[in-house]
Amino acid sequence: MRINRPDPDLFEIILRHLKEAVVFADSRGRIQIFNPVAVEFFKVKEKQAMGKKLERVIPYKIIRKQFGSVYEHREGYHDLELAIHFPAVLEEEAQLLRCSFYPVYDRKGIFIGCLATFADITEKGLLSREISQSKDLSTIGMLARWMAHEIRNPLSSLNINIELLRDELREEVHLAQKGEIQSLLNFISYETLRLENNLKEFLDFNRLPPLKFEWVQLNDVLDSIARLLRPDAQMKNARIDVHFQKKLPLVKIDVSQINLAISNLLINSVQAVSERGEIHLLTRASKKNVFIIIKDNGTGISKDHLHKIFDFMFSTKPTGSGLGLSIAKKIISDHHGDITVRSELNRGSTFRIRLPLNPKAN
Ligand SMILES: Nc1ncnc2c1ncn2[C@@H]1O[C@H](COP(=O)(O)OP(=O)(O)OP(=O)(O)O)[C@@H](O)[C@H]1O
Ligand SMILES: [Mg+2]
Repeated sequence: MRINRPDPDLFEIILRHLKEAVVFADSRGRIQIFNPVAVEFFKVKEKQAMGKKLERVIPYKIIRKQFGSVYEHREGYHDLELAIHFPAVLEEEAQLLRCSFYPVYDRKGIFIGCLATFADITEKGLLSREISQSKDLSTIGMLARWMAHEIRNPLSSLNINIELLRDELREEVHLAQKGEIQSLLNFISYETLRLENNLKEFLDFNRLPPLKFEWVQLNDVLDSIARLLRPDAQMKNARIDVHFQKKLPLVKIDVSQINLAISNLLINSVQAVSERGEIHLLTRASKKNVFIIIKDNGTGISKDHLHKIFDFMFSTKPTGSGLGLSIAKKIISDHHGDITVRSELNRGSTFRIRLPLNPKAN
């Protein structure tokens, strides 16, 4: 039987375009992957690194130690922040790297090596120092949390999509299925771009981005959000169905902000449903308003919590930042609309957004 392997170039391309340094060393500690960012970070040419022992290539003891731990304990270490003194940089100007180390197993569960990724977060580190010195902690703290929230969501769907892509390739789908792979990859680059843009905006963090209104067909905007979030839902065996009113009047909105508001609501629904969850996204119009309705059959919200869910930083989730709904509410009120909720514990929740067709008349 002939087995179709995925195009090896694909891995090359992905590795080449990652903004993180990626190093993989086999079970004997010999380097097998050393991408261009790794070349830049460790100041060692790829050719000189390949096949060599880690100890001979990685010039930083603190990093070699982490690799050592993976080999010894077969355990991963994630999001470690390590300060590195690069030879080219002044002694006191350390570079801050965020690193993750993963033990890697083959399909039979045999340990085949250690994968590590490194991202340069020096600027962010310096920024947080500036923030802690700032007098206006409340605003900046809020912005920082807002950013953390904005980074987490695209990142999590990014990861899910990478996971799907990996599965796709693992099943040895021949590149006849290029379209599918291509669209997953497009999604990955879209999310990375979104992340980059958010970060850029954060770095000149004097203000939240101003609203940019345009006339659009709301159904189209919502449809693309639903499409982007379907992989997240599918991971939980849940569905996102759309039921749009035909011939919905055009609305004047800031597409990227409405995108953000609706994504926050849909993500909450995805998080609230379990197996066979159903999420419905509807549009309706009256003479003066359009309505966007998001309905799920998830956990629901208790009476005690219902009046708090739009509060800044209210969350019942272990890793939630409690920003999704307060951001959504702010965006909708910037559009002169409002957002209401009905929910019943263990039955589900329905969020309804009203957007006036002619905001000035209200
Ligand atoms: N569809 C929903 N089903 C059940 N509970 C919900 C739903 N939407 C919101 N909630 C509740 O409201 C809280 C606040 O939601 P919000 O989106 O503001 O924050 P979060 O989801 O906890 O964190 P973040 O969105 O910042 O990651 C949630 O923690 C959850 O308890
Ligand atoms: Mg949320």
